[in-house]
Amino acid sequence: MEIIRTVDDLRSRLAAARQQGLSIGLVPTMGALHDGHISLVERARRDNDVVVVSVFVNPTQFNNPTDLATYPRTEEADCQRLADAGVDIAFVPTVDEMYPEPDTRVFDLGPVAEVMEGPMRPGHFNGVAQVVSRLFEMTHPTRAYFGEKDFQQIAVIRRMVELEGFDLEIVPCPIKRHDDGLAMSSRNVRLTPEQREIAPAIHRTLQSSLDWAATHTVDETKRYVVDTVNSFPHMEVEYYEIVDGATMQPISDWQQSQEPVGCITVYCGDVRLIDNIKYPSHKC
Ligand code: PAF
Repeated sequence: MEIIRTVDDLRSRLAAARQQGLSIGLVPTMGALHDGHISLVERARRDNDVVVVSVFVNPTQFNNPTDLATYPRTEEADCQRLADAGVDIAFVPTVDEMYPEPDTRVFDLGPVAEVMEGPMRPGHFNGVAQVVSRLFEMTHPTRAYFGEKDFQQIAVIRRMVELEGFDLEIVPCPIKRHDDGLAMSSRNVRLTPEQREIAPAIHRTLQSSLDWAATHTVDETKRYVVDTVNSFPHMEVEYYEIVDGATMQPISDWQQSQEPVGCITVYCGDVRLIDNIKYPSHKC
């Protein structure tokens, strides 16, 4: 595996690959890699001739300086995992390399960015759009891979792709979970042993809400999830919203969406965890 640190080197290496007609799969990451990331890499490996993984903790998407400062950074271990997974290129730039000038672009992300994470983390999605558009512009991937744990992020990236006119395929990949159901996340390492034991209650509650949803309204289902998760020690739900899976707009009636998705954010101590679940369509 090649480790490339500059944009010029990345561009020239990939221009050569494109000239040979090879397809390029890009997996953007912020490092601290876990099996969830590796599942994206494996999918990219199956689909493409050349697999590029970027490892970059993007400062422009952090609206909380403590979160940026405490974000785990494990470059050596990450590169080892990527090499073991058969990645061709790890792109590991510095902040100055990615942003030689401050990025002042403001994307018109529209309604998909105006709900849930949008108001909770002002500027976050604009920062994601900035860095992902740069990565797309540098790599011109055939396909780019994103985990469905960040469900809303995928809708935002699709919108950015539409705005910028990138010609590529966005490939959403299923959430990877630990055996006890907790969604894999780089933030999980910050949970205390006690919090780590309780955190799977998020997924368990979302799972049990599937039965609940069959005989209850959207509002009742939301209330059930919030009350159940909040009943566990250390857990505080920031929001639980049931939205249409394509538009990200909240629904108030099951009939309003063919693909309702419940998106939750929970503070477990001071660690912010997110997860989601797809409900079956209630339409006949
Ligand atoms: O999902 C993430 O890890 C990040 O938001 C991404 C897409 C790598 C952009 O920094």
